[in-house]
Amino acid sequence: MKMDIRPTTIVIFGASGDLAKRKLIPALFQIYKEGLMPSETKIIGFARKEMSDDVFRELMQESLVKFSRSKPTTDSDEVQSFIGKLYYQQGHYDDKSSFESLALRVGELEKELHGEDAISNKLYYLSTPPQVFFNIVSMLGQTGQIADYHDPEFWTRVIIEKPFGRDLESAVALNNNVRSVLHESQIYRIDHYLGKETVQNILAFRFGNSIYEPLWNRRYIDHVQITVAEAGSVGGRGGYYDHSGALRDMVQNHMLQLLALIAMEPPSSFAPKAVRDEKVKVLSSLRLYNDSEIKEHTVRGQYATGSVAGKKITDFLSEKDVAPDSRTETFVALKFFVDNWRWSGVPFYFRTGKALPKRITEITIQFRQPPLAMFDNGGDHNQSTPNQLSIRVQPNEAIRLRFGLKIPGQKMILQPNEMEFCYSDVFQAEQPEAYERLILDAILGDSTLFIRHDEVDAAWTFVDKILNGWSAQDRLPVLPYRAGTWGPVASDDLMARDGRSWAKL
Ligand code: BG6
Repeated sequence: MKMDIRPTTIVIFGASGDLAKRKLIPALFQIYKEGLMPSETKIIGFARKEMSDDVFRELMQESLVKFSRSKPTTDSDEVQSFIGKLYYQQGHYDDKSSFESLALRVGELEKELHGEDAISNKLYYLSTPPQVFFNIVSMLGQTGQIADYHDPEFWTRVIIEKPFGRDLESAVALNNNVRSVLHESQIYRIDHYLGKETVQNILAFRFGNSIYEPLWNRRYIDHVQITVAEAGSVGGRGGYYDHSGALRDMVQNHMLQLLALIAMEPPSSFAPKAVRDEKVKVLSSLRLYNDSEIKEHTVRGQYATGSVAGKKITDFLSEKDVAPDSRTETFVALKFFVDNWRWSGVPFYFRTGKALPKRITEITIQFRQPPLAMFDNGGDHNQSTPNQLSIRVQPNEAIRLRFGLKIPGQKMILQPNEMEFCYSDVFQAEQPEAYERLILDAILGDSTLFIRHDEVDAAWTFVDKILNGWSAQDRLPVLPYRAGTWGPVASDDLMARDGRSWAKL
């Protein structure tokens, strides 16, 4: 891996939040521990709370011990030297003087290390509520903290967390605003699903092998289904979630990104532009439904009290900060089409939800039945079990191929069997966390696994149509489902109407 050896300053906005504690600081620690962090990196946490450097360091040390995948102990040398790289700057996101103070602080730290004229590369991480994304970028610009993107010596990059807008209009406005200060090449819109090992492996699996590609199209594939199930409830995030819902929270970003990787054409190289050009073509080929198609092809659900793995979950409406009459969906199932040459007529199905029976993300590619049912022994047969390729993204990452085989004996009776490849059987080393890979890519200037502005627009165009259809038809139900079940029965009906069913997970 090519390392950038120039000193880098990383500023995390929203440093007192959950994401910083659970994911960002542990990811940065891991990058440091593995010797991949540019030397002399300084990490500045910025948030509204008053806190000294020491208190911030203590808090981050606790979260490292709790959340780091390498489970370090507090007194280990690695933890102690990493903690020494952390600083804290209190400020407000709409207050110019806070940003002037930040600039001074960064300047002091640079001088301390590298003398009077020192400048470091800057990586800003926006892990704040989305309402202040643009404020921060604008303030950084106004206080001279963004290097010209042409500068061959030093770079400025900004990682922007999700949600990127709450509909097409707000996403376009945010893009325009941010791009009035930053060049697109400086903007890293993050979707942590793209940092997951198995998700990256979709590209390796499809384009590093030659046997699947000839089958990867409408001639051989019957349909594709993607399930992203979560066992947990909305937990402490009721306020955010009630304004978001499953479609915005999971479909607009993570699931459409999975789809783009499954459905894209082979890129000409693994370079950011080539990969993202192909992804955006898929997203712009999504069929946009009219209101009656939305009624027919979408299912909304909301969890009622039930239990998951023996643990009681109370209904969504009783969650803290959720409106008592909320119609926000905690489950969604969709059938849709990618209208291009490769996928014409192939249905894609999505389902995702909270409080489902287990946490599992799996992609199933179901192939067509053989054209002739040759082994039909008077109904006593299993030929109707179609070939399936399943990619388990999490947990227990695996790839399975299902096919029918003859049961030994006098009769020609077929039975479905599976070939399975489990990552953990082959690769013993622990997998890096998604945020490690993505933050490191941003440091190295590789935007392949980040979302370009036109991808955001295309994904929102599709999702907006559904959101608008739902609000135009306010009598469309949001169906209750018991926590711990696979969503409303209507989700199974969506498949059954087409003579299909959800994969058993
Ligand atoms: C986040 C959503 O983007 O992804 C959460 O806001 C969701 O609601 C999470 O729980 C799921 O991520 P993962 O990596 O646990 O599948």
